[in-house]
Amino acid sequence: MTDELEIPAQTPENAAFPLEKRLVAAEAKVDQRGSRITELAHELVNARAQVRDLQRQVTQYRTVVDRLLPLGTWLKELPPEHLRLNVGTVTTESNFLAQGAMSSARVMKEFDPSAGPMLDWGCGSGRTLNWLLADPAWEKVYHGCDVDSAAIAWLKQLGVRAEVCGDEPRLPYPDNTFAGIFSFSVLTHIPPTAHRGWYQEFQRVLKPGGRVFCTTCGDYTLEIDSARLDSLKPQIAEHGWAFSETEGHYKHIAVATRAYTTKAFEGLLEEESYGRYSNMDAFVLRKR
Ligand SMILES: C[S@@+](CC[C@H](N)C(=O)[O-])C[C@H]1O[C@@H](n2cnc3c(N)ncnc32)[C@H](O)[C@@H]1O
Repeated sequence: MTDELEIPAQTPENAAFPLEKRLVAAEAKVDQRGSRITELAHELVNARAQVRDLQRQVTQYRTVVDRLLPLGTWLKELPPEHLRLNVGTVTTESNFLAQGAMSSARVMKEFDPSAGPMLDWGCGSGRTLNWLLADPAWEKVYHGCDVDSAAIAWLKQLGVRAEVCGDEPRLPYPDNTFAGIFSFSVLTHIPPTAHRGWYQEFQRVLKPGGRVFCTTCGDYTLEIDSARLDSLKPQIAEHGWAFSETEGHYKHIAVATRAYTTKAFEGLLEEESYGRYSNMDAFVLRKR
C-alpha cells in the first residue's frame, strides 16, 4: 500500500472526465484506505488487550492447579497421551485434570462412600478416580471397569481395583454388589438399542436401594448442541434415538431422547432425578 495520491490513468473510458473529478475520486480512495488503517490499528489494540487478559487467566489457573494438585489428586503421573485420547478428543493434561475435577465433584455430591462399594462403569484411564482416591473413604469402596484393556492394565499396575469388562453385559461382578454406579460419557457412545440391556445389568449388580448416576446425549444435548446433531435429527424424530459411527476408540455418537431413555429403564430402575451434566442429560436412578 502506498500513501501517494493515485490519480486514475487517462484511459478511453475516463477521458471524458475532467481532471478535478478524477482528483476527487482519488482522494476518496485515499480516505477509505486511511479509515481502514485506523480500524485495523484499533483491532490490533483490542487483540493485544485480549492476549494480555488470556495470559493473566493462564497464570491464575496455573496458581490454582499448583495449589490443588498436591491436595486432591491421587495419580503420581497422568496416563500417557494415547490413553488420554481414548477418553476424549482433547488430550492435554489440563483437560484430563479439569474433566476429572468436574466429574469427581459430581460423584461426591451424588454418593456417600460410607454406603458401600461403588462402580465407575467406563472408568477409562482414571480421570474421575484421580480426584476420588486421595480420600481414604473413597479408596476403600472404589471399583472401576472398562473395555479398554490397556487403560485397565495401566490402572492395575498402580494398585487400582479395576477390571476389564465386555462390550455387552454381563459385568464381572456378582448380583447385589454395589451401593452406587456412576458413568460419565459411556452410554453416549453405545447404540441406544443396547441401553436397556445395560440398565438391566445395573439393576442386577446394584444392592437393593442402590443408585446409578449416568449421562446420555439427550434432550439437553439436542437443545444446546443442535447444529452438531443436525444430520441425526430425522432418525431421532422417527425412533427417539440415533447412532453415528465415528473413527477412533468409542467416539461414536449415541443420542437417546429423554422419553426413549425413560422407556429403556422402565420396570428396572426408578428415576430419582433428571438434569444435566456438562452438555449431556444426567439421570439418577434407583433400584427398589
Ligand atoms: C468418553 S470416555 C469416558 C471415560 C470416563 N468415564 C471419564 O469420564 O473419563 C468413554 C469410555 O467408555 C468406555 N466404554 C465404552 N463402551 C463400554 C462398555 N460397554 N463398558 C465399559 N466401558 C465402555 C471407553 O473405553 C471409554 O473409556
